[in-house]
Amino acid sequence: MSISRARLDRFISDKCQINRKKVRLLLAQKRVRVDGIIATDIAQAIDKFSVILFDDKIIQQHKPLYIMLHKPIGIVCATKDDKHVTVIDLLADLVTPQEQASLHIVGRLDLNTSGLVLLTNDSRWSEQLTSPQSKVAKHYLVTLEKPLTDEYIQAFAQGMYFAYEDITTKPVSLNILSKYHCEVILTEGRYHQIKRMFGRFNNPVTELHRTSIGCYVLDEHLKVGASKTISITSL
Ligand code: URA
Repeated sequence: MSISRARLDRFISDKCQINRKKVRLLLAQKRVRVDGIIATDIAQAIDKFSVILFDDKIIQQHKPLYIMLHKPIGIVCATKDDKHVTVIDLLADLVTPQEQASLHIVGRLDLNTSGLVLLTNDSRWSEQLTSPQSKVAKHYLVTLEKPLTDEYIQAFAQGMYFAYEDITTKPVSLNILSKYHCEVILTEGRYHQIKRMFGRFNNPVTELHRTSIGCYVLDEHLKVGASKTISITSL
């Protein structure tokens, strides 16, 4: 999902239903502004967050949205679902219905996993956080049914072969916090990865909670189910 860039003349022509020759004239008459600056180049590249004014009337203004949500257990990480309440539904008090519809999820969590979920309408940002090349660290707190041993640390660090996808997981850090609790740090996000890795030890995960994605740490004051807009570090 990459952010699409368009030429200014094509955009105005489509939006205002006028031919490109006329658009050229409008630009020569200095009647179009992009992000506050008078546009002169018909081929100027714009994207969905460019603010475009024609004769001082807004013809495009989408603001980028960056949202942190404390996902509860039982809420589905999907934009629509027939059976469950979705993470998007939880944002009804924070953003408008139109903005809700524009959002996508930056790295899903399972239905029974809680913790940090990021949402945005800016695919440049989400791609940066989720692309395998970026190797962004995601921290999870894990509670297990059976006691942990040092053997797990080695096995997680080595990576595990998943036959279904025919891949070996990237090295995973595991810090034992107590007999049944640990922190796991992933730099990728395979399907049910943490549960499957503990599954190799026949040790079911009883609780899973994400605390951070890269530099974005779940705000400890954000109640379960609550959300807030955040500002981002530069792209
Ligand atoms: N690993 C899992 O098994 N589930 C999650 O929700 C996230 C990571």
